[in-house]
Amino acid sequence: MPQFADRVAKAQRSFIREILKVTADPSVISFAGGLPNPASFPVAEIAAAAAKVLYESGPSALQYSTTEGYLPLREWIANRYRTKNGMDVDPSDILITTGSQQALDLVAKVVINAGDTVVMEKPGYLGAIQAFTIFRPSWRSVPLENDGPDLAALEQALDGAKLFYAVTSFQNPSGLSYSEEKRASVARLLSGRKVFFLEDDPYGELRFKGRALPPVYKQRPENSMLLGTFSKVAAPGFRLGWVVAKGEIMERLVIAKQAADLHTGSLDQMIVHQFLVDNDFEAHVARIRTLYGNQCRAMQAAIAKYFPKDVHVTEPEGGMFLWVTLPEGLSATELLKHSVACKVAFVPGAAFHVDGTGENTLRLNYSNADAETIDEGIRRLARCLETCLAGRDALEAEMQRGCQD
Ligand SMILES: Cc1ncc(COP(=O)(O)O)c(C=O)c1O
Repeated sequence: MPQFADRVAKAQRSFIREILKVTADPSVISFAGGLPNPASFPVAEIAAAAAKVLYESGPSALQYSTTEGYLPLREWIANRYRTKNGMDVDPSDILITTGSQQALDLVAKVVINAGDTVVMEKPGYLGAIQAFTIFRPSWRSVPLENDGPDLAALEQALDGAKLFYAVTSFQNPSGLSYSEEKRASVARLLSGRKVFFLEDDPYGELRFKGRALPPVYKQRPENSMLLGTFSKVAAPGFRLGWVVAKGEIMERLVIAKQAADLHTGSLDQMIVHQFLVDNDFEAHVARIRTLYGNQCRAMQAAIAKYFPKDVHVTEPEGGMFLWVTLPEGLSATELLKHSVACKVAFVPGAAFHVDGTGENTLRLNYSNADAETIDEGIRRLARCLETCLAGRDALEAEMQRGCQD
């Protein structure tokens, strides 16, 4: 067989997408995917918007268009940054992408040479690890604390690095967010350094607790890129995201996008824009926030009720995920084997680590199940956890006995 390119030799299928195959069985309660709740999809409003676009602007919606994207949609996004976060974003600073996942690929293409140092959060977003891996970087990772990255570790990791990638609000996978102080500190650490900063913000609109905080990009726009998406606030099936960047960075991204797919679907862009202008977006997002806030609290309550006390769980203020740290010596991969048999699934945390650690961690998604299902799933998971703990304790006792013999 002819040889594949070196860049894909180590690339693997997404572990999550593989687990999702298990969860296709409807009797499995899945906390594995990162699926927005379909109850939040504005189906009727999208149907009305689609009909309007096709009747009123059919030929242009079905024609090739510019790489940068549909101007009224870019104007809407720029205006949202201005009004919500007081940010200086011009429509010309926005490139519409086919999901923010495509933006990760485009940024990697224009920034990463083989061997360049990429700094990731620990744990970090698996989709970014996957997108960047193709370009064969050398990894460094910075532990996340409850309020953002360990600053001393970040300062060290940034030394000579090419790119720092961060999900600053309600991170996937941990649910953690950077505090106001840490945002300022990260901007300070980055300023004056020759390092690209890629801030990925798919969940920023989904805050159900605490005070809204602007992206770090606002404080350090130079050499930075900010990603956004309609996946969590409209519907992921559109595959509509964007990059905010200025000048030379934007120019390079547009060139990479032209080579990749010419432009993101015009019809999708126009439908989403029509949906945004014809409906009360603020009220729509408020409903999603309430829904996810309730589901998060349901999961936290179930965890408090069923889980052993020495299991640590993060306390997100928004987004779709909780991050669980099991007692030392337990393996989430082993736990998954038991839990799939008990018909409940999650994602083991090792996949979110570029340094081979994280075996005793796991991600739970709460956005796509109602409170009752969440309670039942967590009850099942707790039972599997007890089996694993008993197995570990039995093994430890056996080893102790072995040592004494
Ligand atoms: C941190 C992060 N970035 C990017 C994406 C990709 O989103 P999109 O649907 O916009 O491609 C996700 C999706 O879950 C995500 O969690």
